[in-house]
Amino acid sequence: MNSTPVIVAIDGPAGAGKSTIARALASRLGLEYLDTGAMYRAVTHAAMDRSVALDDTEAVAALARSISIRVADGKTSVDDIDVSEPIRGGAVTAAVSTVAANSAVRRSMRDLQRAWGLSRGGGVIEGRDIGTVVFPDALLKVYLTASPRVRAERRVAEVGGDVDAMERSIMERDHKDSSRSDSPLSTSSDSVVIDTGGRTVDAIVDEIVAMIAPRRTARRS
Ligand code: CDP
Repeated sequence: MNSTPVIVAIDGPAGAGKSTIARALASRLGLEYLDTGAMYRAVTHAAMDRSVALDDTEAVAALARSISIRVADGKTSVDDIDVSEPIRGGAVTAAVSTVAANSAVRRSMRDLQRAWGLSRGGGVIEGRDIGTVVFPDALLKVYLTASPRVRAERRVAEVGGDVDAMERSIMERDHKDSSRSDSPLSTSSDSVVIDTGGRTVDAIVDEIVAMIAPRRTARRS
């Protein structure tokens, strides 16, 4: 019997289409889906809510360890309080990359993410470091990308605002996420890079599904 969990890692920058693709892919494969960005957002919101200074790395890390974060069915809760809406707000979005650069916070989140995947026998997990650090042995690692302009236009279509300002804020976050020392956003040599610009969700999901079947067979034999 093969008990290796079927992990599909979806990484990439903001607005690359990770959530949409990962959710659709999970449903096609009959697997569960985890949005790890929501976890970093939940820690950021909890720290701001409790007036913990974000540059106090020890206090933020202690808070991250002490709260109970649940991400499921499109909802995120902290200690059983639904924070799905506030974690998507501008204040959390502007601050989350600072919290995500905190190594002790990352350690706690990685432990939760690995436990999530192992307890379910696999899943589709999206984030920034899933294929590189959290699940380096994932069955398939996909890195989704698109030009900053396309990504900004998508975000504005979702949450409104000005495309130029959105592009600047996305690029600022890309820079912080890619230049931090602990598990920066990057492709790994064994990831499949897909540019989602100008392509439909279905076409991309079809492409990923087609890559999974032979890998599952190869792993079984
Ligand atoms: O949806 P969007 O791409 O805007 O962001 P997200 O996936 O919700 O992630 C928010 C932030 O969390 C990112 O900008 C990263 O700073 C951080 N993050 C991370 O460091 N590692 C992950 N595995 C997931 C998110």
